[in-house]
Amino acid sequence: MNTLIAVIPGDGIGPEVMAQTTRIVDLVHPGFTFETHALGAEHWLSTGEVLSDETLARLAQADAILLGAVGAAPGSTQIPSGLLERGLLLKLRFAFDHAVNLRPSKLYPGLPTPLSDPIVAGKNIDFVVVREGTEGLYCGNGGSVRTGTSEEIATEVSINTAYGVERVVRYAFDLARTRNKKLTLVHKHNVLVNAGGLWRRIVAEVGEKYTDVTTDYLHIDAATICLVTQPDRFDVIVTDNLFGDILTDEAAAVTGGIGLAASANLNVSGTYPSMFEPVHGSAPDIAGKGIADPRAAILSGAMMLDHLGFAKDASTIRAAVEADIAATIGLTRSTFEIGDAIIAALG
Ligand code: IPM
Ligand code: MN
Repeated sequence: MNTLIAVIPGDGIGPEVMAQTTRIVDLVHPGFTFETHALGAEHWLSTGEVLSDETLARLAQADAILLGAVGAAPGSTQIPSGLLERGLLLKLRFAFDHAVNLRPSKLYPGLPTPLSDPIVAGKNIDFVVVREGTEGLYCGNGGSVRTGTSEEIATEVSINTAYGVERVVRYAFDLARTRNKKLTLVHKHNVLVNAGGLWRRIVAEVGEKYTDVTTDYLHIDAATICLVTQPDRFDVIVTDNLFGDILTDEAAAVTGGIGLAASANLNVSGTYPSMFEPVHGSAPDIAGKGIADPRAAILSGAMMLDHLGFAKDASTIRAAVEADIAATIGLTRSTFEIGDAIIAALG
């Protein structure tokens, strides 16, 4: 069967890291058809289109989507803030029902971390954040009236459905079962009593069937502390869309930088293609210089191979990236050189 991979290189460093990713995925698993879609800032500037219905329908035909990064530079006067994020990236996550935004964090041996050595020495930092991907404050359920006046009212309402929470919680429990059997719910139920109450209840209810998995709870503010003081305490973290967004940037920073953080946006029912992308953004400040680290994107490619059922090819890529990390601590290399080195390490 011909497998179709839709590739959205996007903006900024997106095309640079995506070039290395498709090159490596194609080497390790020859035979995919890659179809590139030139979506993002430039496409909008030249056509006025963010994501047409035709393109969305075409993307729906793919077996998986690889995405580099989208978004204009903060402060860009040409592109309204949120236009590409809401109109392209989040539109894809919502349209293709990406309920689970999976973001693993692992501190590879020898990698510099901003944590002081005595804290991390000998400890195993290896956890996964299961971020809800289709609800919460990301829904776009809000608006403003009297906009631009001193009487302006602006709202963003967080949507939490029992259905949406349950499916992500279930996924997180299943994942914990394949790992160290520990699940931490992160929320803020002492303030967000309605949404927090729903999340807590569902974790408790679903957890009754997973007696082999230990559960605990942290408020988001405390969780940000624990991520730097005791990162080894985590195995699987389940949380809502915005808390997960914030926590996974912190997790990436703690475990060697955003240049290594991969992610999967999973459609858990198989009705639409899942999408794989690095956690980092388009990094306009370093775009075009050929210095972006492509390893987060390459590891996202490995997550895609896993999802498509090619676990062995995924491990081959992961092993090559790990070997590359171990061999090149402290080296400064170009995007292309890193791609070359990983290819050389594929074995
Ligand atoms: C991420 C990004 C996106 C998000 C932005 C670009 C909309 O920060 O994937 O973490 O907030 O989800
Ligand atoms: Mn983010």
